[in-house]
Amino acid sequence: MKKQLNIILSAIVLFSCTNAAKEVEGEKNNQEVNMQEEMNSRLVYTDHHSFSKPDEAVVTHLDWKAEVSFEKKTLKSVATYQISNKKAVNEIHLDSRNLKIGSVSRDDQDMELEYEMIEHGEFLGSELIIPITSKTKSISIEYETTEGADALQFLDPVQTAGKKHPFLFTQSQAILARTWLPCQDSPGIRFTYNAEVTVPQGMLALMSADNPTEINETGVYNFTMDQPVPSYLMALSVGNIEYRKIGEETGVYAEPEIVDAAAYEFDNMQDMVDTAEALYGKYRWGKYDVIVLPPSFPFGGMENPRLTFATPTIIAGDRSLTALIAHELAHSWSGNLVTNASWEDIWLNEGFTVYFENRIMEEIFGKDFANMLALLSRQDLEDEIARLTDAGRAADTRLRVDLEGRDPDDGLTGIPYDKGFYFLKLIEETVGREKFDEFLNEYFNGFAFKIMTTDAFIYYLDEKLLSQNENWANAIRPNDWIFGEGLPDNCPNITSDRFVKVENELNAWLSGEKEAEDLQSGEWMTPEWMHFVRQLPDSMSNIQMEALDQAFGFTTAGNSEIQAAWLEKVIPNNYANAAAATEEFLIRVGRRKFLVPIYKAILMSDEGLDRAQAIYGKARQNYHAVSTSTLDEMLSWEG
Ligand code: BES
Ligand code: ZN
Repeated sequence: MKKQLNIILSAIVLFSCTNAAKEVEGEKNNQEVNMQEEMNSRLVYTDHHSFSKPDEAVVTHLDWKAEVSFEKKTLKSVATYQISNKKAVNEIHLDSRNLKIGSVSRDDQDMELEYEMIEHGEFLGSELIIPITSKTKSISIEYETTEGADALQFLDPVQTAGKKHPFLFTQSQAILARTWLPCQDSPGIRFTYNAEVTVPQGMLALMSADNPTEINETGVYNFTMDQPVPSYLMALSVGNIEYRKIGEETGVYAEPEIVDAAAYEFDNMQDMVDTAEALYGKYRWGKYDVIVLPPSFPFGGMENPRLTFATPTIIAGDRSLTALIAHELAHSWSGNLVTNASWEDIWLNEGFTVYFENRIMEEIFGKDFANMLALLSRQDLEDEIARLTDAGRAADTRLRVDLEGRDPDDGLTGIPYDKGFYFLKLIEETVGREKFDEFLNEYFNGFAFKIMTTDAFIYYLDEKLLSQNENWANAIRPNDWIFGEGLPDNCPNITSDRFVKVENELNAWLSGEKEAEDLQSGEWMTPEWMHFVRQLPDSMSNIQMEALDQAFGFTTAGNSEIQAAWLEKVIPNNYANAAAATEEFLIRVGRRKFLVPIYKAILMSDEGLDRAQAIYGKARQNYHAVSTSTLDEMLSWEG
């Protein structure tokens, strides 16, 4: 009897328990549903830089066949697109710019199609409208690129390391993919692709896909990318290229003349991948390789999936500039997995990546080192805010920028990088690293292969993290950071003893207390040298400049970051000894981040525009369109 009662009692307890649990569960589900709904509404966005209408008809897969001609400097291609006609509409919209479109066809009709092209001007290009039906499964476009293919740079042999073979590489971000491929050129639209690329015999072709490691005799290369990617991550590189394996899933490609130096330089790449995975979850892209391009590559690096494109200027010989690899690798999560919905949300790509980069560097090189990088970023941020504010562009100092009617490349500043980094750092410091890491892990996983908008992120951050403690939102003030101008007063303050020591040494030298040779700089690493050079005044004598140069060899430094920072000082200080080196650097290197400040310094100097234009006249043919489009305007270049 007693036993029975017990059973009945426990049944009741159990019953009410499950009921209560169910209720809690139900409430939780409700909350989840509400949150999902709110997220969905906040994930609605407008991309001002694409004419595609993905809600109506969207490309899901591309089969790309192309032939590369180095004589004509063109790609001749047939692109076949699998489409999903979501709303049974009668046309699909693609982006294109400066492409010569031949015939257009589709699988459910024998005849060639009449398509429409609407020109929208300089940077947006033309809207390509192709008739479809609800039965259409695929469309096909024959086309050829033209001289106006701004993504492409065809290099003559003299512009390469080997000087014997030509070279080709692409740079699609932000909206240049449309200059070599008609596509829905919007970061929020993803598709898988296969490609067959024909190149001259003796050359290797590589894409942002699974890649060959050796040149074959046929010159025909096949690629598959079975993970959906946005168009800005479409990439191609062709040249006399060799491969060196570094770790289990890592390796480096480069011209034979520099491939061993590259392999030496990036020796710790596998370590970086392992470190990144330990922080924020599995690397999802199979292999992680880097290709070191010729020096005209306009960026430091570009996070093309499975194959980062990199400038050779990070090969310093002493493995000192690998933060850039950490940065591009980090994009495998922030950007390539969770992608900014539009270029107005680019801080979600770049700010998160700088934060992630800094965490990787901290794991590998220690907190001191990471703090120095953060402080350099702080200097960049303050300079950038001052520059933009002076130029009447204070609105561009917001994290979320307004790019309607503007070329996203003109809107690209250091703000999404450095202000984005400090915003995330502030969150980390406020909620604690453990909680923030948990949040980021969930974020990268939950939104893998999806988009993120600024509005959705704000809500997600609040729901998942800030709501856990009533003080956090007030301490962080996300809206001030995201929608406000300048630097909020709650910006984290990072300090570095090592930088204080650099300042002390610099002051000892400036006051004449110490000779350059006697400075305690033996242990300095790149960030310390950067800090030293950046703090040099613009009013030094030639004797002082020479003393520094003799002691530290800045003018001919193998470390391009230090050299470029020094050349920026050479100009206002009228240091004639370095004039030739400055010119040589500007002619050889096409990395925009280095070019812009040096040309700017020349513009502000006595010789000003004349000297800048004289150098530019010799250098311009070596630059990629990304760099010339900025410099043409800056230097009033009329060809
Ligand atoms: N994805 C960017 C380059 C980019 C951004 C190209 C926007 C076009 C439009 C890349 O990851 C990058 O940030 N490169 C930096 C690297 C640096 C911050 C370590 C560069 O090139 O300097
Ligand atoms: Zn980046």
